[in-house]
Amino acid sequence: MCGIIGYVGPRLAVPILLEGLKAQEYRGYDSAGIAVLENDMIRLIRAQGKISALEERIGGEVGTATVGIGHTRWATHGRPSDINSHPHLDCKSEIAMVHNGIIENYQELRDWLIERGHVFASQTDTETLPHLVEHYYNGDLLAAMMQTVARLEGSYATVALCKHDPRRLVAARRDNPLIIGIGEGEYFFASDMAALIQYTRNMLVLQNGDIALIDEEKGVSVYNDGKPVTRETIYIDWDKDAAQKGGYEHFMLKEIHEQPWALGQTLRGRIAADERDIELKELDFSTEYLRSINNIAIVACGTAYHAGLVGKKAMESMLRIPVEVDIASEFQYRDPIIDRHTLAIIISQSGETMDTLLALRECRKRGAKIVAICNVLDSTISREADYVLYTWAGPEIAVASTKAYITQLMVLYMLTFYLARRMGMKSGDELQPLISQLYRLPEKVGQVLDSCETEIEQAAQQLKDWSDVFFIGRGYDYSVALEGALKLKEISYIHAEAYAAGELKHGTIALIEPGIPVIALATQPAMHPRMVSNIVELKARDAHVIGLSFGGCQDVMEVCDQTLVLPDIDPLLSPMLSVVPLQLLAYYAAVARGCEVDQPRNLAKSVTVL
Ligand code: F6R
Repeated sequence: MCGIIGYVGPRLAVPILLEGLKAQEYRGYDSAGIAVLENDMIRLIRAQGKISALEERIGGEVGTATVGIGHTRWATHGRPSDINSHPHLDCKSEIAMVHNGIIENYQELRDWLIERGHVFASQTDTETLPHLVEHYYNGDLLAAMMQTVARLEGSYATVALCKHDPRRLVAARRDNPLIIGIGEGEYFFASDMAALIQYTRNMLVLQNGDIALIDEEKGVSVYNDGKPVTRETIYIDWDKDAAQKGGYEHFMLKEIHEQPWALGQTLRGRIAADERDIELKELDFSTEYLRSINNIAIVACGTAYHAGLVGKKAMESMLRIPVEVDIASEFQYRDPIIDRHTLAIIISQSGETMDTLLALRECRKRGAKIVAICNVLDSTISREADYVLYTWAGPEIAVASTKAYITQLMVLYMLTFYLARRMGMKSGDELQPLISQLYRLPEKVGQVLDSCETEIEQAAQQLKDWSDVFFIGRGYDYSVALEGALKLKEISYIHAEAYAAGELKHGTIALIEPGIPVIALATQPAMHPRMVSNIVELKARDAHVIGLSFGGCQDVMEVCDQTLVLPDIDPLLSPMLSVVPLQLLAYYAAVARGCEVDQPRNLAKSVTVL
C-alpha cells in the first residue's frame, strides 16, 4: 500500500532514497517524504503529492547524510497532506519512522501516550510508532522496537532511524512486506525487491514477526520472538532493466508488450518434451490425495479473481469437480464449504493482498491444502501456502495488472492439464493438441500485439468521450469481458460494465443509446449464433459494436461495426489472446483522455489493508 526505503552505507543517502521511492511510487503516490541523519540532527522533508513534489522541495540539496529512510504513501488514516506524510517523528525529533500497514489499536495507544505527555502532530496511526519507541528508548533502539511492536495490533512494516544510533536502522514486519538488500558495505530496506535491483541482487525477505537490526559495521541481525533467527539471503537474477520503462512511455504499455516473454518464462521447464504432459515439479500430490479431492476453491481479488473465473471454467470442464471462485473480501461472509477434501487455489500477483491472505488462512483453518499462484517471490502468500506456482512474469510496476493476469491464466491452464492427467480425466493424447498450443502461445500473443495495436489506438479515440462502455460475452468471453471492463475503468475513469450477453435483455439493454460503444467478445464458436443475436439486438438500438473474434467468423464480422481479429486458437485457451486487445484499448483510451496511466487516482498496486 505504501512504499518504504531505507539506506545505511558510504554513499549519499538522499539520491538513493529518492530513486528507491520512485521505483515504488506505484505502491502509493499521494505524499512522500524522507528523513536523513545530518550534522547530528534528523533532517525531515515531506510533501503532499507525487515524489516529484518531494524532489522539488529537496531542490537538489542532497546534503551529506549517508543514512536515512523514506516513504511514499497511499493514505488510510489521515488525508494526504504534508503533516500526515511519513516519516513521522517523536516529541524530541530524535526518532523518525516510516510505516506500511494499519495499527488497529492506534487510538488506544495514542490516548495512552498523550496521557504521558506526548504531543502528536498528525492524524495518522503511524505517528504512535515513534512516540512508543521514544517511550521505551533507553539507549537501545532494537530493544525499544521490540517493546513497541509487542504493543501493536494490526499490520506493519516499519523502519526506524534514531539520532543516537547513527549507523543503524531497525525494522519490524507483520503482514506487510519488507526486504533487506545487502550490498558491499551498504544495506537497504524496501517494500519491493524491484526498488533495490539497481543496487544489489542479494536480498533477504523478512518474515512475519521479524525484527531486524542493520548495523553498518556488523551487518544484519534478525530476531523473532525475542530470539536471533537465521534468514537466508536469496539472489535475484532479474534483468536490471526489469523495473525500468525500457523506452515505453508507460510501464503498462511495456508490460503489455512483455507478455510474450512473460508467458515464455511461465512455461519454461513445465512442458514435457513430447508435449503430452505438464510438469509441475513444485507439486507432490499423491494419487491418494488426488482421489480425495471433492472440490476446488479459488480465492483472489480484482484481476486475479477474474483469472480465477477462467480457471473455474477450465477446471470444471476437464476435471468434473465443482470449483467455486470467491472474491477474497467476501469469502469470510459465507461460511464456505471447505475441508480437507478441498484444494484451495489462492491467486495473487503481489502475494501480499490482505484480503487474499486472510482467505488463505481461513482455508488452512478449515483443513484445505493450499496452492498459491503468485508473481512476487517469497511473498507472504507464497510462504504461507503449501505449494507455490510462480508466474515468473518479472516485476509488474503499473497499477493495472496485465502480464500478471495472462501468466496467472497460463498457470491455471497448466494446473488444469496437470490435474486432468493425474486424475485420469484426460490422456496424453487428448492433452497434446492443447499443450502444444500453450507452448506456442507467446508467439500468438506477439501476433495479436503486432496486428491490432494501431487499429485499437483508433478505436480508443472513438470511445474516449463516452461516459459508459459495455463489454459483453458468453462463457469464457464473459470472464474476459469482466477483466476488460475493469482495465478500462481503473485507468481511463470511463464507467465500464461487463455483462453476460444473455443478461442484457434482462435490464441493461435499457441503457443502450445511439452510438454507445459495446465491445462484443465472440471467441466461442459454439455460442456464435446467440452472440450474433445479441449483437443484432444492440445494433437495432444503434449501439456501436466492436467485435473481437477469429478470422473465419464471418457471422460475427457481418453484424459488428468493426471486428478485431485474433489468430486461431482452441476456444478453451482464447482468454489468453482476447484479453490483449482489451488491455490495449484501456491503455489507449486512458492516454487519449490524458490520464496518468501507471498511477490511476485512488489506487495503489498492492492492497495490504482490509
Ligand atoms: C487491477 C489490479 C487489481 C489486483 C488486485 C489483486 O488491474 O491490479 O485488481 O489484481 O488488487 O492484487 P494481487 O494480485 O496482488 O493480490
